[in-house]
Amino acid sequence: MQLENKTILTGVKPTGTLHIGNYFGAIQPMIELGKKSAQSHASHIMFVADYHAINAIKDPVFLAQTTKELACAYLACGLDPNTSIFYKQSDISEIFELTTILMAYTPKGFMNKAHAYKAAVDKNMAKNEPQDAGINMGLYTYPVLMAADILAYDTDIVPVGKDQVQHVEIAADIAGAINAVYEAEVLKIPTSFLKEETQVVPGIDGQKMSKSYNNVIPLFGTDAEIKKAVMGIKTDCQDINAPKNPDDILLYHIAKGIASKETIAEIKEGLEKGGMGYGTIKKMLLQSIQDELGEKREKYNYYMSHYDEVEDMLQQGAQKARAISGAVLNRVKNHIFNRK
Ligand code: ADP
Ligand code: TRP
Repeated sequence: MQLENKTILTGVKPTGTLHIGNYFGAIQPMIELGKKSAQSHASHIMFVADYHAINAIKDPVFLAQTTKELACAYLACGLDPNTSIFYKQSDISEIFELTTILMAYTPKGFMNKAHAYKAAVDKNMAKNEPQDAGINMGLYTYPVLMAADILAYDTDIVPVGKDQVQHVEIAADIAGAINAVYEAEVLKIPTSFLKEETQVVPGIDGQKMSKSYNNVIPLFGTDAEIKKAVMGIKTDCQDINAPKNPDDILLYHIAKGIASKETIAEIKEGLEKGGMGYGTIKKMLLQSIQDELGEKREKYNYYMSHYDEVEDMLQQGAQKARAISGAVLNRVKNHIFNRK
């Protein structure tokens, strides 16, 4: 991907305590991209999508905590607020003004087809409930707010997972519709960049690791919490000396998502030959987690207990962000209200 002079933007919703699947699958690749952007004179923007989270989370104490955890996790994992613009969505009022404008150019049918809404409808249907039961307008119009997040900065590239590609396409369609009405490049057309297929990290029960399944290894848990989760990874009762096919062994799949190449190879060989016990593999996994995350965890704990410093960084980031989004919003208003 060509990054020179481009604007690259991503956001994550603070909807729950982070786990190592989130780290290896999302946070780490996004921060790596931030580092590459800095080397390529690209602008990198990474924010906490707290307004998107309120569609689901109504408990203010919980939301404040998950927001704090996500902001501290970004910094602990290496996001550099000097080279990346880092803020909370709720601090950028231009986003919400732009959202209202975008609504007027968004066909309602786009929202009916958006996958977050469709998935919620499917769930209701499966339970024999009315199709829109429990669905609020925030969830229904989710892609318009996301389009404003993107379009407010003249974003070129939005790195996302597969499930978010459709939302970026909707943002591009809305921008295209506005440009067509005013016969000008009022808004920049963004494109999605599908993150390299990162390994899906399985949870301790073998399903995808997810906060919804209660099967996670917490990203920044205490030693005891992480140890408890790793020791709880499901195993079978084959003889320790029996040669095994690593692909049948959950511990091996988890290792593939999180351990170094050397450790993965060592576990593979140990299983194939037989003689390497599951307890030994669990210890190796714990060591891998410690190697990758030990230092980051110290930083995380520092930021969590010095959150005023983080809030300062977020506010400085918001100022930088508003300078850009304010200019874009003015440009849009000049077109739609015939202002000079
Ligand atoms: P959860 O499934 O715990 O609710 P989210 O859906 O909030 O997680 O995911 C946030 C980000 O973390 C997404 O980009 C997603 O692709 C990534 N992610 C979540 N779980 C995993 C996993 N088990 N392996 C790899 N990436 C994951
Ligand atoms: N919808 C994204 C998700 O659930 C989060 C998000 C909100 C986002 N606004 C964005 C991602 C803008 C990229 C760009 O993961």
